[in-house]
Amino acid sequence: MDETRIQDRGEAGTIDPATLHEKAPPHPRFIEGGVGTSLRHDSGAKHVSGQARYVDDDPELPGTLHIYLAMAQKAHARIVSMDLAAVRAAPGVVAVLTAADIPGRNDYSPVFGDDPIFAEESVSFLGQPLFAVAGETLKAARAAAGLARVAYEEKPAAITLDEALALGGEDLLPPHTMRLGEPEAVLAAAPHRIAGRVETGGQDHFYLEGQIATAVPLEDGDVLVRSSTQHPSEVQHNVAKALGVPDHAVTVEVRRMGGGFGGKESQPALFAAVCALVAVKTGRPAKCRLDRDDDMEMTGKRHEMRADYDFGFDEEGRILAADLKHFVRCGYSRDLSGAIADRAMFHADNAYALHNARIHSRRLKTHTASNTAFRGFGGPQGMVAVERALDRIAHEKGLDPLDVRKRNFYPAMGSGVEARTPYHMAVTDCVIAEIVEELEDSSDYRARRRAVRAFNAQSPVLKKGLALTPVKFGISFTTTHLNQAGALVHLYKDGSVQLNHGGTEMGQGLFTKVAQVVAEEFQIDVSRIRITATTTAKVPNTSATAASSGSDLNGMAAREAARTIKERLADYAVRRYRVPREEVEFLPGRVRIGETELSFDDLVGEAYLARVSLSSTGFYATPGISYDRDTASGTPFYYFAYGAACSEVVIDTLTGENRVIRADILHDVGRSLNPALDLGQIEGGFIQGMGWLTMEELWWDKAGRLRTHAPSTYKIPTANDRPDDLRIALWDKGRNPAATIYRSKAVGEPPFMLALSVFSALGDAVLAAGDHRAFPDLDAPATPERILAAVDMVRAAR
Ligand code: MTE
Ligand code: MOS
Repeated sequence: MDETRIQDRGEAGTIDPATLHEKAPPHPRFIEGGVGTSLRHDSGAKHVSGQARYVDDDPELPGTLHIYLAMAQKAHARIVSMDLAAVRAAPGVVAVLTAADIPGRNDYSPVFGDDPIFAEESVSFLGQPLFAVAGETLKAARAAAGLARVAYEEKPAAITLDEALALGGEDLLPPHTMRLGEPEAVLAAAPHRIAGRVETGGQDHFYLEGQIATAVPLEDGDVLVRSSTQHPSEVQHNVAKALGVPDHAVTVEVRRMGGGFGGKESQPALFAAVCALVAVKTGRPAKCRLDRDDDMEMTGKRHEMRADYDFGFDEEGRILAADLKHFVRCGYSRDLSGAIADRAMFHADNAYALHNARIHSRRLKTHTASNTAFRGFGGPQGMVAVERALDRIAHEKGLDPLDVRKRNFYPAMGSGVEARTPYHMAVTDCVIAEIVEELEDSSDYRARRRAVRAFNAQSPVLKKGLALTPVKFGISFTTTHLNQAGALVHLYKDGSVQLNHGGTEMGQGLFTKVAQVVAEEFQIDVSRIRITATTTAKVPNTSATAASSGSDLNGMAAREAARTIKERLADYAVRRYRVPREEVEFLPGRVRIGETELSFDDLVGEAYLARVSLSSTGFYATPGISYDRDTASGTPFYYFAYGAACSEVVIDTLTGENRVIRADILHDVGRSLNPALDLGQIEGGFIQGMGWLTMEELWWDKAGRLRTHAPSTYKIPTANDRPDDLRIALWDKGRNPAATIYRSKAVGEPPFMLALSVFSALGDAVLAAGDHRAFPDLDAPATPERILAAVDMVRAAR
């Protein structure tokens, strides 16, 4: 393991970057903050000192109006009447907007045109926006909204998946099926078979900064929008669509988000559109900032999913065939549910060759907020069934679950053995066996397995569990055309650089990584590069910063832009100093031109006087990927990211309470662009995954009202839940065989699924509580109540 990288944890930024630089001497000097260094997040100090500016921190323009969104109080109903006279007459109210006030289209959906900004004839979930009140103060606007008189005619509502199925199961999108080999025949002939069901709950994003937007009216009906969004281009398009103007009339800007986690991929368009509508109608700046409760009621979450599974396997626990049925709870509209449900299917195999498989997926409508992207984008939900099944196979055969897992891995990269995924993609870069082997050693898995058994034998109330699970996660947007990015780099005549690209910063460190790439390309210190806000005015038609591909895509585009400028500088040097191109070399902070050396800044200054263009765009499109939905086959991913985690838990069999006492993680980020940031992503992802699988529980009452809409009732992991003993390492052999930026691998989402080891370890502890006789039903989140029920079940079974 790479000691330097591990030891710098927690002190990132305080170490001398030169000591970590990949290119050790010959050169006497190194640039500061090049690729591969543990440079601190560019805003780290500002985040913790409160100086980082978020949308709400921008100084408010005089006359700014504050918007409150009135929400439907029924889950499914026809709006009989809506009397807003008292709202309009209330003190401090400047404007009240309904669907009738929208000059363009009443829709903010990403794809399908089914997300009304304001409800028209009917409402489809409790919390759906009905109208907006723009007031001199937020207090005035909110108070006025309460004066509305709305009459509903209620219709049958489907809140839960069961209710959706009972009401006939309305498919929001057509079902999708993947098929590999002969699953029916092989299942029928399999010597052993297990079938069951596992459910995984939703999850609220709980970004620290809630949904927010502001809009400033400009001349000619144009608007400038600031939005906390992962997808400025889509916000721009949806605002323009609502205003009935071309995209060029709308500029959307975002410097950073206080977390997005997928929750700001599609849904911020609603708040931005409302702000823009108010701004254009009133001619005054407008702001819409949701409080936590409204945010949680109004916006979509991770998709809850049910998986029915049927696995056939042999004596050694090798999977022969699998049949899986996914039921995905989408909420009231389509949003991104199609791609999310697809990604759950793409990850139903996790790291295991299923050989013969059938995966069928239904995308069901419920009368709840429209579920949306959330870290992993369906992948985590998809993986749960196969992991649960492998634990059960191990239990049936009396084998160690790790041995069963290892027997089922995809063949190793370079082994010459070919295996295909259920969507017929050849897995050629699999390194999971090697990673798991190393982690098994470094986590002391076998000795700890014995220690856990010994502990459980003498502990009647507390029971421990241990599990080591893998992750294989496909990198690329599976909607192929989204895999493109642009950048715009300006080199000023003093040698300093302004860097723009289409990616957005949500805390993950994308801006820092892309700046490192540009510093490396120009061979200048990263401090010479100014990272700027993302804006649709500089880089157009961008994709959401999502699918973990922010640095893969924008890093490449920015490097391309920097390269173009660098080549122009080199061409200039060749002409001016009459040397061959090979004799122009960019060294740290300077350029060698034949026998002479110039500082980078001097060369730039000279080039400016010689009228050389010092600004360039850059563009990148991921090569070689495609997916054909008609045949459910293709190569949707450029490569896979791999990792593994070993978690040890303890449960209290009297209360169901549980905690993770130790976790060891080994994760492959290829050749890291920035080890400190990558370690941060791994830790954050793991803990967020743990929250999803163990404690974060969404609960709606029968009327469809979300009752867990604040931190008082919705519990996310705190610093106290972080395992005291948490050992995270980057895999030092990691190197991406795909030609990504500096052979790095995406890191944003994959580590989330490392938390499956916690779920599996909890299952192991429950098994121990029943002396390993019966295999428990256990759904996620494995809250104390569910663990207690599982313990009761295994104890009753003996
Ligand atoms: N890390 C932080 N701190 N905040 C976030 O909102 N979002 C995650 C992940 N890590 C997120 C985060 C999600 S859902 C994705 S898709 C990636 O970051 C997006 O950024 P990237 O593509 O640059 O990795
Ligand atoms: Mo991440 S769920 O792809 O925004």
